[in-house]
Amino acid sequence: MKAQVIEDYCFTPDFKLVELEKPSQLNNKQLLVKIKVVGLNRGDSLIRRGDAKLVFKFKMPCIMGLEGAGTVEAVGAGVTKFKIGDDVIVFLKNDRLGTTAEYTVCAEDELVLKPNNMDFKQAAGVPTVTCTALEMFRSYSPINDVIKREIEHCKVHGKLTDAYEENDRQNVDILVIGASGGVGMAAIILAKGFLSRYFNIKVYGVCSGKNVQVVKSLGADVVIDYTQTTAKDGADNYHPKSSTTPSICQMVKENGGKRIDLVLNCVPGYYFYDDVVQNLCSSSPQVVYTSAAPQGPCKVTYWTLVQFGSFIISAKTKSFFSGYPAYYFARLVVNAEDLEFVANYALEKNWMPITEFDFADINKAHEILDSERAVGKLVLIL
Ligand SMILES: NC(=O)c1ccc[n+]([C@@H]2O[C@H](COP(=O)([O-])OP(=O)(O)OC[C@H]3O[C@@H](n4cnc5c(N)ncnc54)[C@H](OP(=O)(O)O)[C@@H]3O)[C@@H](O)[C@H]2O)c1
Repeated sequence: MKAQVIEDYCFTPDFKLVELEKPSQLNNKQLLVKIKVVGLNRGDSLIRRGDAKLVFKFKMPCIMGLEGAGTVEAVGAGVTKFKIGDDVIVFLKNDRLGTTAEYTVCAEDELVLKPNNMDFKQAAGVPTVTCTALEMFRSYSPINDVIKREIEHCKVHGKLTDAYEENDRQNVDILVIGASGGVGMAAIILAKGFLSRYFNIKVYGVCSGKNVQVVKSLGADVVIDYTQTTAKDGADNYHPKSSTTPSICQMVKENGGKRIDLVLNCVPGYYFYDDVVQNLCSSSPQVVYTSAAPQGPCKVTYWTLVQFGSFIISAKTKSFFSGYPAYYFARLVVNAEDLEFVANYALEKNWMPITEFDFADINKAHEILDSERAVGKLVLIL
């Protein structure tokens, strides 16, 4: 079988297309999936570079890839949920990798059936970004209650509960920073599609000028170009109070965002929490981060772990005092139940732009991930 392999951690993408033996041994509970499309994520580039090997260490040479979509080709005798020929979405658990290959061996709880109304390219990129966005929304308790209830309802009835009457919907204003990236776009799609059935959702998206239109097209009500704010100088600097250039949150306020309930921050760097503290605190928003790292290449060392930890602890401690927003750190939870819910019920027909690469061009795709300028999803076609 064809596989894209790294022989060692590599700062510059250095995948080699190799021919390996197709896996032939399955245990009772395993399945063999023929991968058709691989979904790529920013985390793949961090893993490839070895930036996080202190916490996520992989045996080399390594077939990478956490997610993808394909067809079940063989099943172990004890497999009950899937059969040969089923089209599935793959989301590997327990820090396992292996979708950048023609075949991958999975456990039953690493797969969900691909919905018929979703093509393989869309399906391959759903797991990481939507499950991270779902986890971010869970930190806001009125939304968490709805997510919990809808997951249970869908399991029993195979559909969402009825949408609320417009007058019964609570207002929730959401600021999405990094709105043109995979997680940011997934958050907007879930907010404006699924969550707007139960809440009056207003989304403020933040991205660079070139991506304003695409973020608007996903349904964001207001889009702020961060290159017109002090965030253009990098997200590790704080907004200087004396600056004549506005900060992101000052721009949000100028655009009507006096009250923000939830800030979903999908960009590394310390600028954003501080900006919310300086400019949006009167509305007591909740701030949810996907990353506690500074912006740009960042090797996880014992020292940086101490730095991340102290950033999280200091933000959490401050949030006990009035005048500081509540702070949460959302981490990706690989969970077939969440994926099944999102893919079948919460996404409806909406999806983000997809950039396709041939399987042979994985190095080019990783260069884009490294740049932190990916727009929507990047996928590899086998
Ligand atoms: N905690 C977890 O388990 C978990 C899971 C998934 C992802 N993550 C993390 O979440 C983050 C987002 O992931 P992703 O896949 O969405 O990344 P991505 O696709 O690389 O998106 C990055 C986005 O950030 C925007 N951006 C860069 N600098 C900015 C700035 N100064 N101000 C505002 N926006 C800026 C870029 O917008 P422009 O191109 O318009 O400049 C780009 O669209 C990454 O750091 C990733 O590592 C964490």
